[in-house]
Amino acid sequence: MTWFCLLAAYLVGSIPTALLIGKYFFHVDIRDHGSKNPGATNTFRVMGKRAAIVVLLVDVAKGMLAASLPLIFDTPIEPLYAGLIAVIGHCFPIFAGFRGGKAIATTAGALLIVDAGMFLAVYVTFFAVTFLTKYVFMGSISVGIAMLVFSFFSPKINEPIIFTAFILFLIFLHRSNLQNFFNGKEPKINDKKVKGD
Ligand code: G3P
Repeated sequence: MTWFCLLAAYLVGSIPTALLIGKYFFHVDIRDHGSKNPGATNTFRVMGKRAAIVVLLVDVAKGMLAASLPLIFDTPIEPLYAGLIAVIGHCFPIFAGFRGGKAIATTAGALLIVDAGMFLAVYVTFFAVTFLTKYVFMGSISVGIAMLVFSFFSPKINEPIIFTAFILFLIFLHRSNLQNFFNGKEPKINDKKVKGD
């Protein structure tokens, strides 16, 4: 049952929401437009606000469902681990050639189930950093740092090694954003177009 639960978490995370919405409702492959990232931020650029909200909600729900699976199937896996497996599925989805998103929405869903207080602290940090810098990717990377910092105050999660690895994972996922930033090409939050697209 443990392996089934982890596999189910990966498959749930692998559902390529932005790709499906783009393909069936807008007849575009989101991976050919904007930042090419199949996530809510790029959905907003390519398909608009409504589609972005749907992608965001479904991607958050994937994390929530995955983190709930150990409870649903009564397995001894930590909900955090099941949630993180879904995040890996979201980033490397078997249903979309392993070309997925950048973790932030699905992580939010998992964290919401595991520790709602920490979820609040981490995502307030995300919005604060995003709106102060005007760059979503900076808010996204701050999610990893905030998870590590706030985990020291969490009564439920104490995984400094996992969260340190998660920061590096987020930096890896956002390497093209960092490259664009240093080349002056990274779009700000209100830019509808990626320079050079
Ligand atoms: O959470 C994704 C965000 O950090 C970056 O998205 O589309 O600008 O690469 P994007």
